[in-house]
Amino acid sequence: MGKQVAKHIEKLPPSGIRVFFDLVLGMPDVISLGVGEPDFITPWKIREKAITALEEGYTSYTSNQGLMVLRQSISTHLRKRYGLKYKAEDEILITVGVSEGLDLALRSLCSPQDKVIVVSPHYVAYPAIPEIIGAKTLYLVTKESQGFKINPKELSNLLRQKPKAMILNYPCNPSGVTYTEKELKDIWKEISKTDTVVISDETYDELTYDQDHLSFASLGKQAKNQTILLNGFSKSYAMTGFRTAYACANKEIIAAMTKIHSFSMLCGPIISQIAAVEALHSQKEVDRMRKEYKRRRDFIVKELNRIGLPTIMPQGAFYCLSSIKQYKMDSMKFATKLLNCEKVAVVPGKGFGQDFDSYVRISYASTFDDLKEAIVRIERFLNKL
Ligand SMILES: Cc1ncc(COP(=O)(O)O)c(C=O)c1O
Repeated sequence: MGKQVAKHIEKLPPSGIRVFFDLVLGMPDVISLGVGEPDFITPWKIREKAITALEEGYTSYTSNQGLMVLRQSISTHLRKRYGLKYKAEDEILITVGVSEGLDLALRSLCSPQDKVIVVSPHYVAYPAIPEIIGAKTLYLVTKESQGFKINPKELSNLLRQKPKAMILNYPCNPSGVTYTEKELKDIWKEISKTDTVVISDETYDELTYDQDHLSFASLGKQAKNQTILLNGFSKSYAMTGFRTAYACANKEIIAAMTKIHSFSMLCGPIISQIAAVEALHSQKEVDRMRKEYKRRRDFIVKELNRIGLPTIMPQGAFYCLSSIKQYKMDSMKFATKLLNCEKVAVVPGKGFGQDFDSYVRISYASTFDDLKEAIVRIERFLNKL
């Protein structure tokens, strides 16, 4: 029998995170600082809405674009929060997670061989999707010495290759880095000279600790027209299992994304969409979780630096990227040793880009007690190296 799986899919490396966490599975007493999801349960009033919707018999498909009431709520939310005006009728699409939004955005924009800029360190899915659709990834590698932030000059050089799209993510998974208005304007200044579309993954927009988030599309009319805004309910509202998110863009792009979505996904789950409307009225709950993440961030970053893992202070999301350079081993070896010796799981940096093999990602979406115990264990481990 001939090979059944397409060559380019067979060649696609599995997520570095997955490989490592297969090791963690089944090991008892592990403190996992590897998770990419909130440790909070979805706030009760959102869950209650989902339960009631199910009891009332909401079990059908919705329109391909998603429930109008949810699109209207998102439209109102974005107008209030960022002054952004997206029409619920044809500029907003409900997707199955930001994951699907990203896939649809890239499929809608790119033909095979088109180029896509990925800023690294990056979320694991970013280079995988261009690979799956036959597009080429151009890496814009950020440096620790520049706070893992985009250097506009380097961006300008890459833009000369006329990429179809650039994936921007802030606050960033895995570095926790976000941008000021001035920094975003400097980035936009370079992009505005081109036709490159910015796919702005702002899934952590509610989780910033030192400054308010500014949405990329709010930089001006042209920026809005050249941006696909992706956001969702997974992180800010602790709703990962609801699989609900949204994409906002001009109506031509949303029509293209909806076309693909209507053939592949049909629509998002109705119960989750109803719950998401309630989420947009749950700012108090979001504020409560943000406050707790900030408390944990302040603790863990200070402690990591103290015990010998240099770590830049992240301004958002719930991750930090710690340097392991001085221990002279690659990130997989470091993470595996730490797991075996002290039963603490962190994520090897290589999964976030070739240039990040001397880093590990540490998530603080864990209880304060677990973070305290993890620090004791990591310190003991480092002292033995
Ligand atoms: C930057 C980023 N984008 C997208 C996602 C996927 O989110 P969703 O659950 O909405 O698909 C994640 C999940 O970790 C993420 O970190």
